[in-house]
Amino acid sequence: MTPTLSYQESGAGIPLLLIHGYPLTRRMWAPQFSTLAAHARLIAPDLPGFGGSPADQAASKVEDFAAALVGLLDELGITQPAVICGFSMGGYIALAFCRAYPQRCAGLVLAATRAAADTAEGKANRDKALAQARQEGAAPIIAGMLPKLLAPAAYAGRPELVEELRRVMSGATVAGITSALQAMRDRSDSTPMLPEIAVPALVIHGSADQIIPAAEAQLVAAAIPDASFVLLEGAGHMVNMEQPEAFNRAMAQFLAEL
Ligand code: MLT
Repeated sequence: MTPTLSYQESGAGIPLLLIHGYPLTRRMWAPQFSTLAAHARLIAPDLPGFGGSPADQAASKVEDFAAALVGLLDELGITQPAVICGFSMGGYIALAFCRAYPQRCAGLVLAATRAAADTAEGKANRDKALAQARQEGAAPIIAGMLPKLLAPAAYAGRPELVEELRRVMSGATVAGITSALQAMRDRSDSTPMLPEIAVPALVIHGSADQIIPAAEAQLVAAAIPDASFVLLEGAGHMVNMEQPEAFNRAMAQFLAEL
């Protein structure tokens, strides 16, 4: 049976589910594949409506995305607990995953993300973006995100990284973007569940993140009983792409200690 979601897989050992952010695709994890496949079985899906995965008009909650991911693990015959690693929106989904399927979660990695729900202003901005995506398509959404995703210094100094990021986002469709915007807008506050997380966690963040301040991630780490916090100095929101060696080092250490 062909799995419903398109995905990339490599390596052996403990399953490591890599959940991409918005409006991104699984291609964002390319810097992890070469190195981390020596430490785990990497599975990086495209969420519905992104990259190679068909859109799912019914998916409008982070819980729907988590259900699609557990469905993929089932289709792959992976019933043992996996390390769930979510980047930004993928982190909102990872928290929903661990809430709904705690027995499928061996560890949690929260990269460049937060536990809190959207503020009223944040929700209003989601509605504006939803209207824009429906009227004008994916291109202006992608163009609007591009200047925020990297540390400010990267735009002048690392043109190849900017181009790769553009390619990562080119697989975002209007259907995927609108599902994701609704899911992010309506997600509940995950802060109350943090003290209940019973597995080891790694919280990793860039000091120059323009989208989610590092202080928020530090609070998340402080609220999870068994969590470590890694701050990558000078990295923006795309921590894993901007500082792949340091990111992979932290991940490899976390996997080794599990
Ligand atoms: C992401 O990178 O996934 C999004 O920017 C997160 C968000 O908009 O809250």
